[in-house]
Amino acid sequence: MNTPVECRSVLYIPASNERALAKGPSLACDVVLVDLEDSVVDQAKSDARLKAISALRVLEFGYRVRALRINAIDTPWYADDIEAASQCEPDILVIPKVDAPEHIAQLSQAMDTHPGFAKTRIWAMMESPKAVLNAQAIAASSQMYPRLCALLVGSNDLALAAGMPVNASRHLLVPWMMTLVAAAKAYGLQIVDAVYNDFSDVQGLTSECNEGVAMGMNGKTLIHPSQLQIANTAFSPTQEQISIALAIVSAFAQPEHKDAGAIAIDGRMTERLHLGMAEQLLERVERLRLRR
Ligand code: COA
Ligand code: MG
Repeated sequence: MNTPVECRSVLYIPASNERALAKGPSLACDVVLVDLEDSVVDQAKSDARLKAISALRVLEFGYRVRALRINAIDTPWYADDIEAASQCEPDILVIPKVDAPEHIAQLSQAMDTHPGFAKTRIWAMMESPKAVLNAQAIAASSQMYPRLCALLVGSNDLALAAGMPVNASRHLLVPWMMTLVAAAKAYGLQIVDAVYNDFSDVQGLTSECNEGVAMGMNGKTLIHPSQLQIANTAFSPTQEQISIALAIVSAFAQPEHKDAGAIAIDGRMTERLHLGMAEQLLERVERLRLRR
């Protein structure tokens, strides 16, 4: 279950918004994330659930990964959300407000009883101080429950729970976010950065995406179609990275380097581990190219 998915751009679509749902199959996102949680008001939950099932069953999403965010475990909607979700066989079930490894155990065990979830993975939203403090145990639960394959940073809820004013700088949350990155990387999980609320601010989003790349994030959760291209570009390999990877592969392919563990390329030591990384990067570039 642990093959990484392409998740540069993970677009939330409120399940209550049929117009937006219908756009999903034509948008340039890697992951369509249909939301039953915070973007849907309480009185619209049941109706939104029906719309989500219908969209995920009927629409043709092509290469896009199909994800569904259900309501948290301690809410009155959780049980019905699980039942409904099993009918549309999503690629990923996103569980919000995960505070402890028991939440992963409970969800995974519930999913095991539904054939509709045979191939469904879990993404856990980390959005409370408890989630940060329990990050290692939560990520480690993937060893027992391998459906868990990614963490999502929920910085709006994190800031709220920390009592931070809404306009507080994201930089104050970086220590918590890097704790989540460490937990994810330690257990081979992917990690997806938080949303950028001001969807008309291109420059702000670009710099936050670049920051996410520098932090080791695999992609970003997004709220508006106008944000997709910016995230796709930021989280894709750069031309320079591709050129370096090609140079490494070609240098190690020279007969004189057949048995070399480390070689010099442009005055820099390059080891076989760099060759492995270069090959992976080029495979990813090829996968993205074939998708177009
Ligand atoms: N997914 C798919 N399509 C979307 C979309 C989304 N997340 N957000 C907007 N669109 C569509 C709109 O339906 C609209 O299409 P239309 O012209 O055919 O009606 C078009 O893009 C332009 O939308 P725009 O008018 O700029 O925005 P809006 O005022 O309709 O919506 C938001 C703004 C923020 C309410 C909306 O983008 C949204 O609901 N985003 C997701 C919120 C969410 O899920 N939050 C929870 C996680 S933090
Ligand atoms: Mg949240």
